[in-house]
Amino acid sequence: MARIVIHEDKAPFKLEIGGETKKICMCGLSKNKPFCDGSHNQCTDEEEGKVYDYFNGERLEIEREERDEEE
Ligand code: FES
Repeated sequence: MARIVIHEDKAPFKLEIGGETKKICMCGLSKNKPFCDGSHNQCTDEEEGKVYDYFNGERLEIEREERDEEE
């Protein structure tokens, strides 16, 4: 089974652990999850209400099918 997850955050969550600041990926693009690797810089100019897919360093806008809330 596979699924698509939509992330709307464009920056990491900063977490203090033992006096160190850890950055947790919230954009979904990091190749070093759960930690941020700076990949969120690719999505900072995304337009509100649009959905994008990132593949091999390219960004594609994809059609978003509206789903009935009662499904
Ligand atoms: S928040 Fe995802 S790479 Fe930085």
